Amino acid sequence: MQEKRVLKRLIFNISSLVDLGQEVTSSKSFNEKMKTTLYVVTGMFSVPKAAMFIYNSNYGRLKLFTHKGLKEADGINLHIKTRHIKIFKKNEACDIKEIKNDSFYEQNKEAFKRLKAKTFIPLFAKNEFVGAITLGKRLSRVSYLQSERDMLKVIANQMSITLHNSSLFKKLTHKVNENRRLYESMRHIYRDTIQAFAAAIDAKDAYTKNHSHRVAKYSVAIARELGWREKDIEGIYVAGLLHDIGKIIIDKEVINKGKDLSEMELSEIKRHPQISYDILSKIKFPWKDCVDFIRHHHERVDGKGYPDSLMGNDLSDGVKILTLADAFDAMTTDRPYREKLPLTDVLMEVQRCLGTQFDDKISQVFFRVLQKEISGELKELQILPHLDKDFDPAIITTLLNSITTELSN
Ligand SMILES: [Fe+2]
Repeated sequence: MQEKRVLKRLIFNISSLVDLGQEVTSSKSFNEKMKTTLYVVTGMFSVPKAAMFIYNSNYGRLKLFTHKGLKEADGINLHIKTRHIKIFKKNEACDIKEIKNDSFYEQNKEAFKRLKAKTFIPLFAKNEFVGAITLGKRLSRVSYLQSERDMLKVIANQMSITLHNSSLFKKLTHKVNENRRLYESMRHIYRDTIQAFAAAIDAKDAYTKNHSHRVAKYSVAIARELGWREKDIEGIYVAGLLHDIGKIIIDKEVINKGKDLSEMELSEIKRHPQISYDILSKIKFPWKDCVDFIRHHHERVDGKGYPDSLMGNDLSDGVKILTLADAFDAMTTDRPYREKLPLTDVLMEVQRCLGTQFDDKISQVFFRVLQKEISGELKELQILPHLDKDFDPAIITTLLNSITTELSN
């Protein structure tokens, strides 16, 4: 009869263990897994009261993680020192009576009473102490069979590995988040530095205040409409901000003279894309073409630009975008030698220079963005906020429609 009962108990325990295996390997969260495991243990061994703790080495304590059948367990922590940990056998259940003379028990006497603990199972993953389980009195009041102790050890092993993995994952997540924060703050510093440079460039030219800023915005608008990836859009934004950095070392008077430039002065001004390139090519930008866009922002599709007289086919979309954005801003703002042009004139000028100064495809995209901004189709406006509001939207829309229709034929 006795044998039959033991056999029955064993079969029940093995089937519980199978259930537990499924729980542990399931996609449930860590909290759910640990809770379920503790519940299975209490069911398997007929222990109505149990608690599970996670070890925190910084504070030298076992922090209550979950419990079952205990009304006053919340907030219980067990204080444990390294020397206490050494006395435990890895993942082996020990009777509370066995540790009653230890200082570990003495220090936590009240907590053990509240936990109604009769058994203490230390959890070790490899050689690292990760937590513990306390079990209360068994309903049957019988002591654990060796086979049950073995089974408890198997479960304790499983729980400690899950615990260890979760703590590794938490540490890793923490590290990743820390790195991300660091990266973000560096990005901010980087951006601020670039903005400061752009402001320094624009400050040199009295008539082109915020020019770099606007060119950057217009370029972003075109690149976005072209479907560029966000990372590349950031690259052209930076290219817009820094394209005229070479002007920093050109005589301020020559830059602000505007008209009646001598041959020498003109060739001095024309050096600025090359100087920009020389300065920036020493910086390792995360956007590979950024410096190339800057070097060629005065090239033309007919090959009559500078500094390399490249033809349209040799120019990247990024260069063509920057060229158009730069020229558009030059025409829509006051210059030392002339006032800004009305928007209709500017658009017609762009149309006139298609195939010579500007690229057809990129210009068409630019016109489309402008149309969308005027019609309210775009939430984030990059062009309109920088233009004078003295134009008639209906006239501009009609003009843009006629240009784009002509372009697509
Ligand atoms: Fe320029």
